[in-house]
Amino acid sequence: MSGERAALAAGLAAHLRRRRAMGDRRVAFHPNPPPSRGVSAAATSIADRGEAPAVTPLAGDSPRAVAPACPDWETLRERVAECTACGLCEGRTQTVFADGAGPARVMFVGEAPGYHEDRQGVPFVGRAGELLTAIITKGMGLKREDVVIANVLKCRPPENRDPTAEEKRTCTPWLDRQIELIDPEVLIPLGRHAANHVLGTETSMGRLRGRVHALGKRKVVPTFHPAYLLRNPAAKKDCWRDIQLAMAELGLEPPARGGA
Ligand code: URA
Ligand code: SF4
Repeated sequence: MSGERAALAAGLAAHLRRRRAMGDRRVAFHPNPPPSRGVSAAATSIADRGEAPAVTPLAGDSPRAVAPACPDWETLRERVAECTACGLCEGRTQTVFADGAGPARVMFVGEAPGYHEDRQGVPFVGRAGELLTAIITKGMGLKREDVVIANVLKCRPPENRDPTAEEKRTCTPWLDRQIELIDPEVLIPLGRHAANHVLGTETSMGRLRGRVHALGKRKVVPTFHPAYLLRNPAAKKDCWRDIQLAMAELGLEPPARGGA
């Protein structure tokens, strides 16, 4: 009997987490307890014994509330790893926090993890990642370890679909805190989602790239997403121009044979 109740309670907790992850703000503390009265009691007693993944209070897991209070990179990484603030937590293998931990003068920001990133827990390790690595090493003459790479979203969207506006709104406080903690001189957003978030705009890449944007003390040099470059190799020369702009800001000389 107690086993049945425990299973029921765990099922309810999972259901509430899913509903909350899908944006249902009403389910943190259910206003209509009758059908679940017995279950709630069971859930409480199980939580008391530390066995149930209890539904945590909303203020406790909203990235907007938690991220700015994270004092350092590792704390931030841990809090992201347990984030269930949007529905993407349902399909992930793991969160994909960042590659690199700083200090770094340059930070790249992509869109969201894909299949390989979700599996490995590291951003840009698939085909687009190979191209980004080439941009960093062959193009800029740096090592991947010299930079920090993160994404707008920390969990993989199903079928690699575009992030929704709501997902971006929910998740980006994590990224904003990452940027604050790394405090790079130059930020290179890759593609429209990253560029729009970083620059606080809703504009096409065509209008944003090709120049250096000043954002407080920081310089932002948006360029095409490597996945776009794989589909449109002709755009690589424009990306290379952007990367050269970023390098000029950093006082970096192009390596002997530049180009990605
Ligand atoms: N594309 C992205 O935007 N980010 C990754 O981490 C991988 C592919
Ligand atoms: Fe949390 Fe972001 Fe993952 Fe959504 S995508 S669950 S907000 S870490």
